[in-house]
Amino acid sequence: MKINTQQMNKETEKVLREIEEDARQNGNPNWIISREVGEFLNNLIRTNNIKRVLEVGTSIGYSGTWLAEALSHTNGKLYTIESHENRFQTAKANFQKAGVEKYVEQIKGHAPDVAIPDMFDMLFLDATKVEYVSYLNTFLFHMRIGGIIVADNVLSHAEKMKNYKEYIENSPHLENELIEMGTGLYVSKVIA
Ligand SMILES: C[S@@+](CC[C@H](N)C(=O)[O-])C[C@H]1O[C@@H](n2cnc3c(N)ncnc32)[C@H](O)[C@@H]1O
Repeated sequence: MKINTQQMNKETEKVLREIEEDARQNGNPNWIISREVGEFLNNLIRTNNIKRVLEVGTSIGYSGTWLAEALSHTNGKLYTIESHENRFQTAKANFQKAGVEKYVEQIKGHAPDVAIPDMFDMLFLDATKVEYVSYLNTFLFHMRIGGIIVADNVLSHAEKMKNYKEYIENSPHLENELIEMGTGLYVSKVIA
């Protein structure tokens, strides 16, 4: 299902397009997800009426804007973690320009060593690939049963993601699916 962006707030769509254009022209210096993945995450939230989302790796707020736009329809909230000062500040400005800041709580620091509130319906991992297992070790216990964990770069960083793949495949808490979209996504459901 495609998002009808005509339904989207004009300012939100404008910010998304500007970030995409900058990524196209400059070789994606802030490592944003593809528009296709943004739409996928947005749909996931809307169709499952997800309300509380934790993102690891805000960068400049591109994926966060897709997530927050969906959360504006479910009256939910995005908590998003970023350790880099400049990208953290650029994301703040982008969330404001996009008109989604009401649905976003930015957390400055290095995951998983940051304080986060309980509990989440969705976790989106898009930061340092070799750290994904440590994120999960901490954040899995902040997830509701039935919650969804999406991990990006499964195919583009297959070697670095080996430990994560092994971890989720052997976890009695998770049911997993590989989705060949963008740079590759693992979508895991918390079952216990
Ligand atoms: C791939 S980019 C995120 C892109 C963003 N999700 C998007 O699509 O718009 C990864 C970001 O994670 C941040 N990062 C990496 N490791 C981190 C950590 N352990 N804690 C917090 N931020 C981290 C980096 O500074 C970088 O900005």
